[in-house]
Amino acid sequence: MKIAILPGDGIGPEIVAEAVKVLKALAPPLEMETAPVGGAAYEAAGHPLPEATLKLAQQADAVLFGAVGDWKYDTLPRALRPEQAILGLRKALGLFANFRPAICYPQLTHASSLKPELVAGLDILIIRELTGDIYFGQPRGRRSAPDGPFASAEEAFDTMRYSRPEIERIARVAFEAARQRRRKVTSVDKANVLETFQFWKDVVTEVHRDYPDVELDHMYVDNAAMQLVKAPKKFDVIVTGNMFGDILSDEAAMLTGSIGMLPSASLNERGQGLYEPSHGSAPDIAGKGVANPLATILSAAMMLRYSLKQPEAADRIEAAVQKVLADGLRTADIASDGCAVVGTAAMGDAVVRALG
Ligand code: IPM
Ligand code: MG
Repeated sequence: MKIAILPGDGIGPEIVAEAVKVLKALAPPLEMETAPVGGAAYEAAGHPLPEATLKLAQQADAVLFGAVGDWKYDTLPRALRPEQAILGLRKALGLFANFRPAICYPQLTHASSLKPELVAGLDILIIRELTGDIYFGQPRGRRSAPDGPFASAEEAFDTMRYSRPEIERIARVAFEAARQRRRKVTSVDKANVLETFQFWKDVVTEVHRDYPDVELDHMYVDNAAMQLVKAPKKFDVIVTGNMFGDILSDEAAMLTGSIGMLPSASLNERGQGLYEPSHGSAPDIAGKGVANPLATILSAAMMLRYSLKQPEAADRIEAAVQKVLADGLRTADIASDGCAVVGTAAMGDAVVRALG
């Protein structure tokens, strides 16, 4: 089993180093190879996703990814910006199924901006379709408007589209995941306005016939955004398209008060996966040794479970994270009264010790 390690930008290298530390402490250790990605790769090789990095990712069983992006690249042409690295990896590896859990840890309930009773025990799984939708739909670009009230004015356009097989496979992933949980799927769409999402709703409803043991409901995305802050615990699995999933997963992550704790997995049809924390590169705290490495460490646990088929090792890491929290260790982002605030490396070391 081989893992590609892509630390990226900002706090990426610091948090990935801690996850690597934890992986190395497992027996037997895994084969790992590191390559630059994002802004770091642009600096080193002139492209956010160099050929060699892509090749390494394609040949690996799994990719452990830190984060990419920094304001200083905002003026580069779009094709050279750090974000293109993650979009390029998703597309090239066919990582269509994105799992974004939003879990409120009992020790961290107070860190949420919502009342504790609304979030205590929260455990939602957002399944975001990751390789279609307006993110990748063609055509897109700039042109002179061909018609309409502003004909011949300069305009920009993107294309929202989903095909039946794309919707079917992500719906199946969601129903299967729900079977391992509380057996409820909420499909989020905008069927009242968009043709693409009326089709989405129709296809999800058809696929549901194969899963009579799972409850399915449909919700418009604006209502879903509202319900997530009103009564988040009513959700179990949320399945939605690429763009709505991008927005709702940030909202759901914030409900837990600790986005620094949330891992994610992006899988393709072969079970190959890319694992990354749900948070970004946080350039404002990069290099200070204060970032929370737990989301990345928990992403490594997801990697062991889903791509490397080592569930016991995954359990050990997750139990170790629970233990350090129970022992009162906190990074600055989740600090609370009576707890010891530690830096990135000390948190990683504590998890290694807690592995036992
Ligand atoms: C995410 C990010 C990415 C996305 C960006 C960095 C391209 O926001 O993973 O949610 O929009 O998918
Ligand atoms: Mg996002």
